[in-house]
Amino acid sequence: MDKKVTVIGAGNVGATAAQRLAEKELCDVVLIDIIEGVPQGKALDLAEAAPIEKHDAQLTGANTYEPSAGSDIVIITAGIPRKPGMSRDDLINTNAGIVRNVAQQVAKLSPEAILIIVSNPLDAMCHVALNASGFPKQRVIGMAGVLDSARFRTFIARELNVSVENTHAFVLGGHGDTMVPLPRFSTVAGIPITELMSAERIDALVQRTANGGAEIVSLLKTGSAYYAPASAAVEMAEAILKDKKKILPCAAYLQGEYGFQDLFIGVPVKLGSKGVEEIIQIKLTSAEQTALAKSAAAVEELKKTLRKLNF
Ligand code: APR
Repeated sequence: MDKKVTVIGAGNVGATAAQRLAEKELCDVVLIDIIEGVPQGKALDLAEAAPIEKHDAQLTGANTYEPSAGSDIVIITAGIPRKPGMSRDDLINTNAGIVRNVAQQVAKLSPEAILIIVSNPLDAMCHVALNASGFPKQRVIGMAGVLDSARFRTFIARELNVSVENTHAFVLGGHGDTMVPLPRFSTVAGIPITELMSAERIDALVQRTANGGAEIVSLLKTGSAYYAPASAAVEMAEAILKDKKKILPCAAYLQGEYGFQDLFIGVPVKLGSKGVEEIIQIKLTSAEQTALAKSAAAVEELKKTLRKLNF
């Protein structure tokens, strides 16, 4: 393939993203992890499925960064999950260390790459990756909104018994709890859901969406969601690789947009070959702006924690 995407972290999200990228025949894929054998084993297993899945994407697994050199996109999923007894600050400290190291290595070998950040806590990891890579803001993008809006779309489609393909959902803000859904811009075949459902039902679906990650964790017991997160990261990668100019909700670095400075937060962006090619600004109601400000305050708290930990 003439495009190359590296996925850092060959765990659940990383390996699933690698599978989707290859099976959509979007690019060659390099899978990197610190665990010896795992990225190599998963890449080989995926390569051996290629004759059946009918694609010619090359898959390589490695514990070093050399094979990733010259990547067009690097998807960062590396990190550790929060363990019992671990404080939020401990988790940020560990994952920030991992993401900083990964971003520095990537920047050396793939100076033109676009980074898609998946590691949590997402908005904080975007700040770390931006600083550590030294990349321009257009080339550091966080995956959250595509996942949140896909979850919202799933619930809308189920509620109304319509195709998921007819649904669009508009979400702003941080990932999960502080997500800001905009029902007036969420539609089924172009019809706002506010015309199709009661306010109570919309609220219930919004709550379920904001709690979407926790719902999966409570079912899986060990581990967190990965099929939908991987799909979301790959949709972003596809928009960039194909220069589609697709409008998707992503965590982008704001410098004045929506009234926020020096902050990663979920907003609608235009994704193309240059990364974030435009931040789409819309006029919010005062209630929406207040909800977004709450979301931004949560990200500011994360930034404070990062500063305290010297990131
Ligand atoms: N370099 C490369 N890989 C690393 C590093 C590192 N420095 N540190 C950890 N990893 C790898 C782990 O070895 C593991 O294989 O990252 C992988 C993470 O995979 P999982 O534990 O399966 O986690 P996953 O479910 O894939 O989630 C990854 O995405 O959605 C977020 O919250 C989630 O932050 C988490 C990330």
